[in-house]
Amino acid sequence: MSLRVGTLTEFKEIRADALAFPVIKGERPGKVVPRVDQYLAGILESMYSAGFITGELWTHVPIYTGKGGPRVFFAVGVGESLKGAGARSLGSTAVVAARQVETVNSLAIYLPDSVASREAVREVLISASQANYEYRLGGKKRVLKEITVLLDNTLDGVEGIVREAEVIAEALKLGRDIANAPPDAFNPDTALTKLAEAFSGLNVSIRELSVKELRDLGLNAVIAVGRGSVRRPRLVIIEYMGAGPDAPTYLLVGKGVCFDSGGVNTKVGGFIDKMKFDKTGAAIVIAAVYAAAKLGLKVNVVALAPLVENMYDGAAIKPGDVIKTYKGITVEVANTDAEGRLILADAIAYGISKYDPAEVIDVATLTGGALRALGHVAAPVMGNDDGFVNEIIEIGESVGERMWPLPLWREYREYLKSEVADIKNIGPSGYASTIVGGTFLSYFVEDGVKWVHIDVAGVAFTLNGVKYPPYFSKGATGYGIRTLIEYLIRRSARASRF
Ligand code: BES
Ligand code: MN
Ligand code: ZN
Repeated sequence: MSLRVGTLTEFKEIRADALAFPVIKGERPGKVVPRVDQYLAGILESMYSAGFITGELWTHVPIYTGKGGPRVFFAVGVGESLKGAGARSLGSTAVVAARQVETVNSLAIYLPDSVASREAVREVLISASQANYEYRLGGKKRVLKEITVLLDNTLDGVEGIVREAEVIAEALKLGRDIANAPPDAFNPDTALTKLAEAFSGLNVSIRELSVKELRDLGLNAVIAVGRGSVRRPRLVIIEYMGAGPDAPTYLLVGKGVCFDSGGVNTKVGGFIDKMKFDKTGAAIVIAAVYAAAKLGLKVNVVALAPLVENMYDGAAIKPGDVIKTYKGITVEVANTDAEGRLILADAIAYGISKYDPAEVIDVATLTGGALRALGHVAAPVMGNDDGFVNEIIEIGESVGERMWPLPLWREYREYLKSEVADIKNIGPSGYASTIVGGTFLSYFVEDGVKWVHIDVAGVAFTLNGVKYPPYFSKGATGYGIRTLIEYLIRRSARASRF
């Protein structure tokens, strides 16, 4: 798929098969898109007055023209304005509409002068490419080959915006491809080769620590969780040092459980068929560094992805085992299905001691409780600094990835008391499991290091029968990737200001 921008000269000159345009709630289309209304001989005004076109977010009305140029027009509702969700509605609703028609392979999206801005172009293109994503290893993909934004007049710097949107779209695709990949395709044994290929030509260092290296360093929790699988655990490390040695380093850690059977505490009834998605956190942080490197951001960022399969065999960890973690904290494995926090504990502590980062963000499909608390509508977020947590929430809101804070009050540490070790890996069943997951991780974050934990278990993949914004399409949503990319863009801007 290619993304483009151009100017609209005459409708019959447009080479795209379909043309989408915005309808703003409460504003007459004759005012917002007068050129379209004229071309369609006033039909928009009539349809609007008769209530067939309303401007409601995530809705569209097809209008077949039977003329030269685009054969079908899509009147897409954008709500109150072309800001944020409005732009995402335009881009993604239009793409979904176009993909439904077999003969439509290219789409133009018209942004009239009254609503055109660089931000709108960016948001339209990114959401359109997200909605155009499909993961398939068989059958036939139905995706558009070309998506073009058409303007009345060109905008300063709009070509750069298109290029940026293209990279962000690629990063989203990379992350979603990893998350969607079957466990046999993307696993601790195959990951590095695949990633080296994806990152080839980029100015990054990409390597992995083997079991031997992990053992020598003391990342015993990663080894313990991976012990029950024939595929040996790894720690994948991707470094992009775009800001030079004196600038701060930002650490991203992603849960990479390539399949979560639960281990000896085998999953019964709880989404075992979805557990290829348990590597989503890793996929997200990998996608974020990819974007940073490809955009050439002036930022130092390290992604750590502990990769394991949580399986059961004669060597697997068992309830009752005690692990000495990298940080020296001993952990009683009270439940082998609470494995994500174990591998993250080691990766976070190792990353902090090795890179001395200014800030740490970890992303994980950590708890079923995330789905119970907030459903598919928002991801729970926690941390040790309210300002940092709020900044991440605000960034997420701006890109259509809503998050909501949960507290990490000290009282919750009570739940993790163990009779034999420093802490255990679960709290009392049914008690605030998402907070308990975050609380567990908090033990492994050095005091004074700003840290945010995003639990994406409820938003990482689509559930059948639930309606999502169309930019998430089916399977892995990539929810969180955009937030991390914007975060790195912000840190990059900060770096170049000083
Ligand atoms: N990978 C799961 C969490 C999960 C559940 C992700 C549903 C996506 C959808 C995680 O490893 C897990 O099993 N968590 C348990 C922890 C419990 C044993 C304390 C949970 O949340 O039930
Ligand atoms: Mn689990
Ligand atoms: Zn898991």
